Amino acid sequence: MRWPAEAIWEAIEPTLAGFTVEVLPQVDSTNSELMRRSRLGQTEPVLLVAQTQTAGRGRLGRQWQSQAGDSLTFSLGMLLQPADWAGLSLAVGVTLADALHPDIRIKWPNDLWLADRKLAGILIETASSAAGDPGAARYAVVGVGINVAPRPSEGLSTAPASLRELLPDSDAGQTLLRIAEPLVRSLQAFESFGFAPFQARFNARDALRDRAVALSDGTAGTAHGASETGALLVHTAHGMHAVTSSEVSVRPTP
Ligand code: BTN
Repeated sequence: MRWPAEAIWEAIEPTLAGFTVEVLPQVDSTNSELMRRSRLGQTEPVLLVAQTQTAGRGRLGRQWQSQAGDSLTFSLGMLLQPADWAGLSLAVGVTLADALHPDIRIKWPNDLWLADRKLAGILIETASSAAGDPGAARYAVVGVGINVAPRPSEGLSTAPASLRELLPDSDAGQTLLRIAEPLVRSLQAFESFGFAPFQARFNARDALRDRAVALSDGTAGTAHGASETGALLVHTAHGMHAVTSSEVSVRPTP
């Protein structure tokens, strides 16, 4: 498998000084690797791609399992200093979906869905700033896992979706080439303008829009899109509820 590392670098480096692209045959987790590097003071912008992850991680302590070639697994690390971090995962989801296919929906807050099945997951972690100043730039690690080819569904409640259902000829390298530059541009736009410019694009692709949902904290209601700070608006028996905690999971109910 050939990775278009040079083409990606040429598209991004002119507006992101010091940017590099690195492809590793194997690593535990691209997110873990960039977080380790940031703790050593390495905070240059980098796109780290793994052919195989031995301990891929998802949100809420879950695992991200993938086979080499079947899945695109990478993390983009760069320093960011937005006024507000809220809604970053939604901005990333919007960007990936827009770059890939009109039929992809975003499942708040971190997944891409195709016909109610998971196509991709996003895991964002930030390293605390050396200065300890809450307004200072932080190293953001944006990890993305996309199922490119169909994968086994053992142990999962719903069989995952794959990009080849939409784009039969896609492979991990081409997929990365399609999304890498838009992703960097979106992180730069998010740094300047926050989630607001992404809100309408999110709401147009919201997988939960106008659907009955149940939250892991026991709340139930109807989802009404994202607020301008990226909170999921859920209409419950007690009125409109803005769900902000990324520790809460949400699922549609039949
Ligand atoms: C989720 O579904 O909860 C998020 C999954 C994120 C998986 C990607 S794969 C590349 C990067 N490295 C990791 O360990 N996780 C992310």
